Amino acid sequence: MDITILGIESSCDDTSCAVVRGTTLLSNVIASQEVHRKWGGVVPELASRAHEQNIVPVVDKALGDAGITVDDIDAIAFTRGPGLLGSLLVGLSFAKGLALSRNIPLIECNHLMGHIMVHFIDEPGVETVHPSFPFITLLVSGGHSLIVLVKDHLDMEILGGTTDDAAGEAFDKCAKVMGLPYPGGPVIDKLAAEGDPKAFRFAKPSVSQFDYSFSGLKTSFLYFLRDKVAEDPDFIERNKADLCASLQQTIIDILMSKLIKAVKATGVTEVAIAGGVSANSGLRDAVTREGEKRGWRVFLPKKSYTTDNAAMIAVEGYFKYRKEEFASLDITPVSRVTQLK
Ligand code: KG4
Ligand code: ZN
Repeated sequence: MDITILGIESSCDDTSCAVVRGTTLLSNVIASQEVHRKWGGVVPELASRAHEQNIVPVVDKALGDAGITVDDIDAIAFTRGPGLLGSLLVGLSFAKGLALSRNIPLIECNHLMGHIMVHFIDEPGVETVHPSFPFITLLVSGGHSLIVLVKDHLDMEILGGTTDDAAGEAFDKCAKVMGLPYPGGPVIDKLAAEGDPKAFRFAKPSVSQFDYSFSGLKTSFLYFLRDKVAEDPDFIERNKADLCASLQQTIIDILMSKLIKAVKATGVTEVAIAGGVSANSGLRDAVTREGEKRGWRVFLPKKSYTTDNAAMIAVEGYFKYRKEEFASLDITPVSRVTQLK
């Protein structure tokens, strides 16, 4: 029987635990923290406290759903970073305690690599086609917008990143300006379906090579609305769907232009997307359409694996276990990372 890994993810506002046997997912439990909604964003101190409350029941449920006990686990994988230090500490401390008490290896995982790892998750009884190496991943989340060249499971090179805000942040901040709830990405996605993506035009940045920038778009959106609302206080309410559709289209155009550039420059035509924003229906359509036009083989993650989850961490842990990349018990969390390893 292949080895069994328990994965723990607590980098932001989701407390999650998953069990994999090899790359086959046996359970994946996610407790999302509702407490942040009324503040319009994640409040770090509240996040750590909620993780503390959630971690034991979430791990218990993951073991139960997988039909195993703690005796069946061969190693514990946890997210070391990037993320909120207080949140990471909760998952890390729990993982350390469990590894120490069971005398089993501890495996540190990189949250960003984890997002890409969703493309290797297998489900029991389901035939899944995985990308072959090398492949390009557009990794877009609330904290990151990266173009990554994936050469092997644990060998990844960042080709481009964001110079300021991430794509998810652009969705969330613009949603806030329109008075929409947090997180704004899924809300904009839904409203955009009813709107005209060509109704309004917003600034697109000019940044070098494969890098992104979203702060200009956010500012242009803010000033545009400020002027319109000065003329007509109901402007946002009256044009909500068109605003969402136009904003979403602008973000997608920005993301796609650099992705296409990276594919052209590398000649790699296996193309995947990952991270919270990869749930966006407009982006999924755009990548699929571009793939058909340009002869790419496109990999879209299952929607339930796009936002933060421990399945991705458990799978990353599996590949690290195979290479015996184990962490020491004095390991500490990291809020930022510059490399994928
Ligand atoms: O990967 P994730 O769960 O957390 C980070 O690692 O940041 O991503 C969360 C981000 C949020 O900014 C959220 O608004 C965005 O993903 N998001 C979406 C959609 N679903 C989640 N953005 C656009 N469309 C969606 N359907
Ligand atoms: Zn994430």
